[in-house]
Amino acid sequence: MTPTAPEPESIESAGYLDVDPRAASGAGRAWWDANASEYLDEHGAFLGPAGFVWCPEGLREADAGLLGDVTGARVLEIGAGAAQCSRWLATRGVEVVATDVAEGMLHAGLAYDASAGVRTPLVVADARELPFPAASFDVAFTAYGAIPFVPDADRIHREVARVLRPGGRWVFSVTHPVRWAFPDDPGEPGLTAARPYFDRRPYVELGASGSVLYAEYHRTLGDHVAELAAAGFVLDRLVEPEWPEGHDAVWGGWSPLRGALLPGTAIFVTHLGPG
Ligand SMILES: C[S@@+](CC[C@H](N)C(=O)[O-])C[C@H]1O[C@@H](n2cnc3c(N)ncnc32)[C@H](O)[C@@H]1O
Repeated sequence: MTPTAPEPESIESAGYLDVDPRAASGAGRAWWDANASEYLDEHGAFLGPAGFVWCPEGLREADAGLLGDVTGARVLEIGAGAAQCSRWLATRGVEVVATDVAEGMLHAGLAYDASAGVRTPLVVADARELPFPAASFDVAFTAYGAIPFVPDADRIHREVARVLRPGGRWVFSVTHPVRWAFPDDPGEPGLTAARPYFDRRPYVELGASGSVLYAEYHRTLGDHVAELAAAGFVLDRLVEPEWPEGHDAVWGGWSPLRGALLPGTAIFVTHLGPG
């Protein structure tokens, strides 16, 4: 008999709720596995099979150079999804490894490899427990991966610090924390602050059994900086990409309307300080 995959549980309720971090801890993997195709159907064309885009504002690594000079560097991507960013680096001859907790997301990248004509190294790994030796990478990064989906992002920063060589660079983009105070709506309702910026309760979706199906965590700008400092990182730049003139793509709650008035993405460019 061939075992059949269990039917995904439907969402019974959703909101900003205190949930047991242990109950929410594995939700990221299950949700992204189940929703990999939907995510890529929606955003795949914008990201491209082998493009390195930091955010819905469309900032490209080719223009921003936030990773610095990666010639000869060994580069790690966490929360890579279908590994478009790593693939972009691989097509330029950079030694890169793409990791993600959801096998379904990485698996989707295999077809992109064929169209880009490269083989991107893919490893299934939770960013909180990376299967790499200490000091084995020069640069680590993620575009919107992993950090918002775990209750304990401090563990990700510590793990990245462990696998980076001294002075190594760690760059990550997340939803700009200011957005937390506004409804996640690309239209007019998304322009009026409706909840406290300082409310750290995650946005969660619960199944009928009470299980956590999806969880997204908010950290203020100060929280991010404190977590980075505790892991030994020095903040070099905080990049807040502006919405470019003529860019009309809507991505979830990101839109030209909101982009003209509010920051949508925060990109932290850091390096590992002396021990
Ligand atoms: C918004 S997607 C971003 C994917 C990709 N960077 C992109 O720009 O399309 C978030 C990714 O984070 C991954 N993720 C969630 N929790 C994770 C964890 N604990 N460790 C590693 N990856 C995780 C998800 O599987 C998903 O692929």
